[in-house]
Amino acid sequence: QTQYLADYKRADFTIEQVTLDFSLFDNQTIVTSKIVFKKTNNRVKNLHLTGEDLTLLSVSIDQKETSHYEVSDTGLTIKQVPNEFTLSTQVLIHPEKNTLLSGLYRSNAIFCTQCEAEGFRRITYFLDRPDVMTTYQVRIEADKTQYPVLLSNGNLVEQGDAGQNRHFAMWHDPFPKPSYLFALVAGDLACINKTTTTQSGRDVLLEIYTEKAFINQADYALGALERSLKWDEETFNLAYDLDRYMIVAISDFNAGAMENKGLNLFNAKYVLASPETATDKDFFNIENIIGHEYFHNWSGNRVTCRDWFQLSLKEGLTVFRDALFSADMTTKGYKRLEEVRTVRDHQFIEDQGPMSHPVRPSSYIEINNFYTLTVYEKGGEIIRMMYQMMGAETFKRGLALYFERHDGQAVTVEDFATAMSDASGIDLTGQFFRWYTQSGTPTVRVNSLYDAQSKTYKLTFSQHHLPTADQANQADKQDLVIPIAYRLFDEAGQSLCDERTIVLTESEKTIEFGSLSKRPVASILRNFSAPVRLHFEQSIDDLHTLVRFDDDLFVRYDALHHILKSAVSQLIGQQTTPQKTPQKTPQSIPQSTLTQLVGTYEYLLTKDNTPAIEKAELLALPSLSVFFSLLPEHPLDAVDQAVKTLSAALAQQMSEPLQARLSTPCEHEEHDLSFAAVSERSYRNACLQLLSYAGDTDSIARAKNAYDQAQGMTNRLAALEALNQTQSPEREAALSDFYQRFESDPQALDKWFAVHASADFPNTIDTVKSLATHPKFQLTNPNKVRALYGTFCMRNLAQFHHPSGQGYRLLSDLIATLDTINPSLAARMASPLTQWQRFDDARQDLMKTALTTLVNLQPISDDLYEIISKSLAVE
Ligand code: ARG
Ligand code: ZN
Repeated sequence: QTQYLADYKRADFTIEQVTLDFSLFDNQTIVTSKIVFKKTNNRVKNLHLTGEDLTLLSVSIDQKETSHYEVSDTGLTIKQVPNEFTLSTQVLIHPEKNTLLSGLYRSNAIFCTQCEAEGFRRITYFLDRPDVMTTYQVRIEADKTQYPVLLSNGNLVEQGDAGQNRHFAMWHDPFPKPSYLFALVAGDLACINKTTTTQSGRDVLLEIYTEKAFINQADYALGALERSLKWDEETFNLAYDLDRYMIVAISDFNAGAMENKGLNLFNAKYVLASPETATDKDFFNIENIIGHEYFHNWSGNRVTCRDWFQLSLKEGLTVFRDALFSADMTTKGYKRLEEVRTVRDHQFIEDQGPMSHPVRPSSYIEINNFYTLTVYEKGGEIIRMMYQMMGAETFKRGLALYFERHDGQAVTVEDFATAMSDASGIDLTGQFFRWYTQSGTPTVRVNSLYDAQSKTYKLTFSQHHLPTADQANQADKQDLVIPIAYRLFDEAGQSLCDERTIVLTESEKTIEFGSLSKRPVASILRNFSAPVRLHFEQSIDDLHTLVRFDDDLFVRYDALHHILKSAVSQLIGQQTTPQKTPQKTPQSIPQSTLTQLVGTYEYLLTKDNTPAIEKAELLALPSLSVFFSLLPEHPLDAVDQAVKTLSAALAQQMSEPLQARLSTPCEHEEHDLSFAAVSERSYRNACLQLLSYAGDTDSIARAKNAYDQAQGMTNRLAALEALNQTQSPEREAALSDFYQRFESDPQALDKWFAVHASADFPNTIDTVKSLATHPKFQLTNPNKVRALYGTFCMRNLAQFHHPSGQGYRLLSDLIATLDTINPSLAARMASPLTQWQRFDDARQDLMKTALTTLVNLQPISDDLYEIISKSLAVE
């Protein structure tokens, strides 16, 4: 059933307070609730509460049992209620059988909750919507031995014995909150903690809870949490507001983490790490996500969403805040490139496909399907454009005004835009606001014209918007406000002007520069100043100038990709030129192209003084899927073949300087997590990876040696990935060594599954099928599903899209099974199939066959139905 933004109505009741009592047992849980309701509209007669998968045991109003109610699969309606009353219900639920991982469930032997977006209704009957906020008092009772730790939001007010080897804890959260921020945990957990003091003088106890066996992997998370508190206070003057902040690591978790008030629940992957078991990238992600959930305490919890259409109000803003934080912890350029990749390589694809939707959607069937890259990352990009247009200081004032104005409220994206407009004097509620309501990726075309006579240079910018699946008429698309940062260089890379920003509001605009004795080299869309596709024809020489000399990492990275793309397209050109025996003559890149490319890479390796961590980003070759998006006019197979030829040629040509770089001794210990050490490792491993594309015996030997020498996971996994380029006994040996080392560490073992699944070998699909029956693989664990199937279907383009269609059948079988276990995961796993429009006819047919099988499943979840039916509805 479709929900519409336009149908929003505020609730007929407020909730003054709620008291919950959980009696946890191994085979059932009893939830008793007491909710104080007050009508907001006295003409209303009935109270409708949402509830799912609940067995109702009793209902009373003001202590008197009543039978004036009706129960359905989706809720409970109480008839003829007074204006103000206390409703008590008792329900029976089965967390031990809950494989949806929504509501109250068990992961290993731990009771835990996930209530966002609509999980609370799977715990008790309630007004489960974000604009109904109230204070919670929670009593949890469970077996003492099995569940010594009992946690909920807020402050611990009482604990004690409950008889029969049971005990209880009582928690009270003084901050009114929506039900999606409720959390409960019960289990045999270990804990590490630390007290920190806010600038305003509050002592806060920071705690990380994990399963006992993994508590030695929680230190980094605790440090990251402390850094997050400090950063938000220093940067935005936002301080923590309770005496205790708890994070619990959970093994079976659909999302990355959840910002429940005072009690965050995290996917164990984003908490647990040691240098032996986790890579530097894992540490980086942990710090970023700990920051993200912490920052939600203001952007999300203190000020929350009126309804779920407003999801980006909290997510886009928090994504942007976590990005500023991570940039401060690393470098701005490094963090920005990570965002750019997510937006361009993944969000743009979402915009092109059947699930295209605006950052603030106007309808949905299942809200779980809208925790998307568009809502999160494009939402973050919108906030970044505001920041770019008003400057950091004004942005801070705007945010302060927003929090002051709306503290304790459930608001809309318009409310946010209004506060930012009021603080800055820049109107964000008019044309700019279309960024929230219009779907699709704008294209910005840039034309340049140099006139030697008048020494003038003109840049003409124009914006273009194509219809999308959800807004299929050209009339749905209007011009946006697009900030485009630019700068000019001369051909030797000398700057000709400071960075400036043009804000494009009209469909076309020209700017002119004078007194230029030569044609300049333009650096456009610096720092990816707007989430748009840029079409700007530049000569290969200009692109090389930018890669070498521009001071903007994004423009350098993008220029390099254009050069590589043009090399790949030259190679494809050779493949398709009619030949008697096509593909027989080995393709080769024209020597001049190669020489210039190698020259630029050598410049990066030997002369350039870019931070090592950023250099590593420039040295990494784009994946097949990136090349495939850059060259949409060519079939996957042609792109694949050409990319392989290019990578091998580069690896051979660059062999000497790369080896020279690798032969210098390491300056840092492998367990050193300092930024300098991380940077050094990333740079060296980028060199190793590039070398490995040669696939010869030397590179295998080098990678094997790197594997054998490795002490920490960063180097070990980098070596394993280098070995994973070629089927060899060395690869086999390293994989089995890896298994033996990490058999009992779930996070590290996920990498083992993923390395298998990412191998570009024709028999990988059989390996995936056989690993699915491995004793350590579980379909009920989302991380395992993502590591094995997710990697194969989303990261191994060449093998998943094998022309036989076997990959599609494997995925549709998986999705059909998963839909009966965990529909929200099933729906997410369907995304590779939904992109059928990007492929050739033969593949399209096979993919649509798989989709048709799925849409006919009986029963089918709303989650899966929405995704599949929308993918089949587009032409
Ligand atoms: N609010 C969480 C976060 O971004 C994510 C919750 C995901 N929930 C879901 N139904 N997909 O921090
Ligand atoms: Zn979030």
